Amino acid sequence: MSGQSYILGANDHELARLAFQHEVWSGPTRELLERAGVGPGARVLDAGAGPGHATALIRELVGERGRVVALDEAERWRSVHEARIRGAGWSNVEFRVTELERAELHAGTFDVVYLRWVLSFVREPVRVLERLARALAPGGRLVVHDYNHEGISLFPESAGFRAAIRATRAWYARAGGDTFVSGHLPHHLRAAGLEVVEHLPRVLCGGPDSPAFRWAGAFFPHYSQQMVDGGLLAPAERDQFLREWAERERDPDSMFFSPIVTGTIARPRI
Ligand SMILES: C[S@@+](CC[C@H](N)C(=O)[O-])C[C@H]1O[C@@H](n2cnc3c(N)ncnc32)[C@H](O)[C@@H]1O
Repeated sequence: MSGQSYILGANDHELARLAFQHEVWSGPTRELLERAGVGPGARVLDAGAGPGHATALIRELVGERGRVVALDEAERWRSVHEARIRGAGWSNVEFRVTELERAELHAGTFDVVYLRWVLSFVREPVRVLERLARALAPGGRLVVHDYNHEGISLFPESAGFRAAIRATRAWYARAGGDTFVSGHLPHHLRAAGLEVVEHLPRVLCGGPDSPAFRWAGAFFPHYSQQMVDGGLLAPAERDQFLREWAERERDPDSMFFSPIVTGTIARPRI
């Protein structure tokens, strides 16, 4: 692990949560990747790949003639990648443990660099973007898939849920992250020598049985304990949140809206 303190950790809970998260968001992910030019033969860098669910989707899209390199700072994910690569018999997928801030990449070697839910955790996003952009081949695209955390909401409204959201944003921010990074991207991209090609925003929503609702249920009840431990959420607020969340889960008329998740496609500024 790096000197940075990645707040969600690399553990079995996060492995299961990221798998489910990928399932919930795989439609918008595929759409964005295809839009950015990830197709047969493409060379793609999955930066901050975690256990590699997007890596596997990218491999499906680029096929045998393409190439996929997945990077993550967590050694924990190596065995997950290696088992998948071995099981599928892929010869053109590789996983490397590295911090993005220090990744050694050959210049001009990737058609697409993809970061999904990574930049919101990074202390120096411009430094990371600059480094990754150097690895783009002529005509290449850098794609950031991340949050503008506005819009996340639960109905009937819940003061406990609102407290958990406030604490989540503060938790990311205290570790140097930014839950609103999508809104700050034009600045970060410009400072890194890139320019926006297009933004593809998506929101998911639904009732208690919907994938969107269950996705939130895999995050907030679990991680709210760490927010309490870190002094960002009062124990009474967490109790209220858990009680109201359980009530909404039983209420067929309740409704959850995700934050705005935006896929931003960028290219080097000429
Ligand atoms: C929320 S997970 C997303 C994983 C994957 N991109 C996905 O969408 O399933 C964020 C990942 O970014 C990695 N990460 C965060 N900061 C990093 C950094 N500075 N360098 C390398 N990896 C980093 C974490 O280890 C974690 O695996």
